[in-house]
Amino acid sequence: MSKKKEITKLYNVKIKEFNKHNKLYYDKNAPNISDGEFDKLKIEILELEKKFPFLNNIKSPSNSVGFKPSKNFEKFKHKVRMLSLSNAFSREDLINFEKKILNYLNKKIFLEYSVEPKIDGISASLTYLNGKLTYGVSRGDGNEGELITNNIKTIRDIPQIIKKSTIPEEIEIRGEVYIEKKDFHKIKDKFANPRNAASGTLRQKDPNETSKIPLKFIAYTFGFVSEDKFQNQSDFLKELKTWGFVTSKYNEVIKTIDELIRFHEKFEKKRYDLNYDVDGLVYKVNNINLQKRLGFTSNAPRWAIAHKFSADHAYSEILNIDIQVGRTGALTPVAKVKPVNIGGVVVSNATLHNEDEILRKDIRIGDSVKIERAGDVIPHVLEVDLKKRKKNSSKFLFPIKCPSCGSSTEKEYNKTTKKYDAVRRCTNEGFSCEKIAIEKIKHFISKDAINIDGLGKKVVEKFWELKFIKFPHDIFNLNYKKISSLDGWGPQSVSNLKYSIENSKEVTLDKFIFSLGIRHIGVENSKVIAHFTKNIKNFLGFTINNKINDLINIDGIGETQIKSLKSFFQNKVNIKVVEKLSEVLKVQDRKISTNGKLKNRSFMFTGKLQNISRAEAKSLIEKNSGSIVSSITKKLNYLVIGEKPTNRKIEQAKDLGIKILTQQEWSDLLN
Ligand code: IVH
Repeated sequence: MSKKKEITKLYNVKIKEFNKHNKLYYDKNAPNISDGEFDKLKIEILELEKKFPFLNNIKSPSNSVGFKPSKNFEKFKHKVRMLSLSNAFSREDLINFEKKILNYLNKKIFLEYSVEPKIDGISASLTYLNGKLTYGVSRGDGNEGELITNNIKTIRDIPQIIKKSTIPEEIEIRGEVYIEKKDFHKIKDKFANPRNAASGTLRQKDPNETSKIPLKFIAYTFGFVSEDKFQNQSDFLKELKTWGFVTSKYNEVIKTIDELIRFHEKFEKKRYDLNYDVDGLVYKVNNINLQKRLGFTSNAPRWAIAHKFSADHAYSEILNIDIQVGRTGALTPVAKVKPVNIGGVVVSNATLHNEDEILRKDIRIGDSVKIERAGDVIPHVLEVDLKKRKKNSSKFLFPIKCPSCGSSTEKEYNKTTKKYDAVRRCTNEGFSCEKIAIEKIKHFISKDAINIDGLGKKVVEKFWELKFIKFPHDIFNLNYKKISSLDGWGPQSVSNLKYSIENSKEVTLDKFIFSLGIRHIGVENSKVIAHFTKNIKNFLGFTINNKINDLINIDGIGETQIKSLKSFFQNKVNIKVVEKLSEVLKVQDRKISTNGKLKNRSFMFTGKLQNISRAEAKSLIEKNSGSIVSSITKKLNYLVIGEKPTNRKIEQAKDLGIKILTQQEWSDLLN
């Protein structure tokens, strides 16, 4: 079939599918796909028409004059992303949280936290222009939400006009929309929990429907704001009240981790007395300037954490212990347990973490165990009830050969901690261990990597089993005829798959690096490597010519990462995979913002900086369009000197006539 014919066929299939759902939805009021999927289908058709002008079909949503509007709301891009929060469950997690902050700031200071209940509702962002509520937007995927202004306006806790002179010209006020427990009681047959009820009610197409159920709103943060006004989160919360918002009456300012824990213990006991659901406390660094410096990781702020309330638990019996092999070769023992309901979810698998954990707790097949399920975290075995242990039970023997490929396994020795790793790993780096290979492919298609949304993990397993794919690049060479003959694969799903695979070919360099699934090279590390190597050609140059050592000069890349990169690229199959992928994918060059104060200027640091970590200094330079270089050459513009610098570097810089700056002079440059 010619390409043109193929596209036309795909287009017509989509239109048929679209009209089928349209009918089901509007005429029969019985949709069998979600609103989101329906909208996606429509967008796909419109995009095809745009790309291939020869396409035309009278039944296209673009042609049908009487086409009914989508039930979905208009999309609205948030000026500042709406992120989620990292979770803490223990004292150790909190200590770690604070440690990371102090390391990042490179400072020994006493932090102060604004402590607020974590309300279990749904978040909304309200844009006020000159004090007038102009847009009400749901969180959506964090980047883009739905415009639900009219529904938001039915909530009585939300002021529509703020007449105070203290309100900035433009500000996004963010908070939680929720439903009180007593109101939920009246409609509890319709929804599983108050959170779903709030979400369903808020997204009613007809604002009159929304107004029937009393939704409430508690404000707690801001997104975009046109002027820097607030010094502390606690000041902001006070200001919110003067503007007419409701804030939580349980907000506090607390200074030490011990006090946070005490407050948490006390609060947990009274959580059920509150008239709304809370699932933890949120701790935010109170000082807004520090918040700004700390910034965000890929999906959560560094300056805040949610301290969750203790998890639900239940008792069950271990029927068997499976050993799963992960992408990095880690052998994870998983207990298959008698199915048990924990907080509304039926649990039949519970992780046992690693070999050491089994040894330490002496966990055996047949044991009665206490299982914990905390939020979205995988359930795990807490403890064994020894009184119930069967007489004939025997110790569990952890395998020393990989259960997937039979290779030897090892526990790595960590030179710094002088301890062996708790995790045992398959030593087979690469694609010859079946389980590792499947996991690598699943990683490759995942959201933060290549992001092929039509290809789920289950499909990968199926295609692997059928020998359709063995390596990531096989995905781009699938035989769709064979696929369409499989059970459950109609023309629509095959064309969807094809479409999403084709669509995923264009990818940014950092995502490409991340997609390779190299151990210790996560989202953040991939970004810094992409920033350093700039394009795929350079990146391949680094790996093929074995210049990996040069990467050690990048902040954030340490010996562990270098070792892992080397071991990855020592494997011929890995190199082949990377080459094949670089042929079939369109890897975009790393684009750098080029209009900042430090445009066209390069920097290098030597010695320890005061009150700021290297990572933050680097990110400041990059934010202002400057660059960091790793060695002293004529291309370097400034050498910035901290405490105890390397004299050799200063000498070299002087020889080449490179400008030398103190930390103060450098920060003056940045203002
Ligand atoms: S601050 C960037 N404060 O928790 C941080 N969030 O897991 C933005 N939430 O999507 C959130 N109570 O819906 C913040 N006092 C509170 C909160 C709170 C509930 C929700 C919010 C957010 C989710 C993050």
